[in-house]
Amino acid sequence: MTLIGPSLMCADMGVLKESVIRLDQAGVDFFHLDVMDGSFVPNFTLGPDMIKSIRPHTSKPFDVHLMIKSPENYLNLFVDAGADMISVHAEATEHLQRTLQSIRNLGIKAGVALNPSTPIQELQYVLDVTDYITVMTVNPGFAGQKFIPSMYKKIADIKEMIDREGYNVQIQVDGNIGYETIPGVLNNGADMLVCGSSSLFKPEISFEDAVANLRAFNQNYNKS
Ligand code: DX5
Ligand code: ZN
Repeated sequence: MTLIGPSLMCADMGVLKESVIRLDQAGVDFFHLDVMDGSFVPNFTLGPDMIKSIRPHTSKPFDVHLMIKSPENYLNLFVDAGADMISVHAEATEHLQRTLQSIRNLGIKAGVALNPSTPIQELQYVLDVTDYITVMTVNPGFAGQKFIPSMYKKIADIKEMIDREGYNVQIQVDGNIGYETIPGVLNNGADMLVCGSSSLFKPEISFEDAVANLRAFNQNYNKS
């Protein structure tokens, strides 16, 4: 089944708790929490205290996307805030294998995030300590950007690598995931959709209808 994860950086921060409760009830599978440090990416979003404040309001997995430099220095902070999964950027840590191992040693799922221009060879020797791969389908930092078309082939190439090496690693896509791009990302092997302003956070449609529409639409492309 294709997993749907709201990108909470796109939510109204003034009613974040209520939004989380409604999205949970609408049937989302996980919550994607973008963390930015103004250095690795030119923006700031959610911090550990914000994450901690919404943790009690849902039991759905918190997928923390660390768009920060030296993420290995902050793993405990986000586990204590309630992270069930942490993805780190291959471009942001000196020792990716050790960082992924550290995440797993904390008892949560480890993810590798790749910027659009980063070759998939970065993944070659860490698939055994990786639970999911976050393919940035826009340049990280802001919602509302346009999908980068060369990412379709990148997703297919990653899927081929995972299958060839015989690992069970999920492929998450993050950035401008909506009705125009979902067919291509699912057909090429993605199984976790980060849904932001392109598909879920639209003023003209309720969370309940947006999730139901996405669920029905994804059925057309579900392989399993
Ligand atoms: C980029 C962000 C966005 C966001 C999704 O760093 O991660 O991709 O979650 O928002 P839209 O759907 O507007 O790209
Ligand atoms: Zn993200």
